[in-house]
Amino acid sequence: MSFPNHPDAALLVGIPSLDREHAELMSEIGRLIGPPAVRLDSERFSEVVSRLGRKLAEHFEHEEALLERSGLPADEVAAHRRAHRDILEQYTALQFDLMSRAALDPAAVLAMIRSWIVGHLAAHDLKLRPFAGALSRPE
Ligand SMILES: [Fe+2]
Ligand SMILES: [Fe+2]
Repeated sequence: MSFPNHPDAALLVGIPSLDREHAELMSEIGRLIGPPAVRLDSERFSEVVSRLGRKLAEHFEHEEALLERSGLPADEVAAHRRAHRDILEQYTALQFDLMSRAALDPAAVLAMIRSWIVGHLAAHDLKLRPFAGALSRPE
């Protein structure tokens, strides 16, 4: 499985700061996928996953501030925030499993991490696209 270094234009929201963070998160996925292949029980894997967790939390905070100003309906904003919380809960569970050396399927772990970033982007973040112009301007 390979992962593109350049974000697909279909995944660009149009808000430069957000697109930059998404690209950074996607390059972390690339680092996990390799080559070279990264074992789940390696130092390298835990280093990238720890950094990914910090970046995800910061990114969600930034994105939620934009969501509040977006003009999207309140129920969509709430669903989007909930999706962020769910991802952070899954992240915490994964960290726990990695620390307790649970038997994990590497492909399933990578698919889950990819869904946090790429799947979530397609399902939720792209809804910000119609508001990109207004949200790209400083408050
Ligand atoms: Fe999001
Ligand atoms: Fe996002």
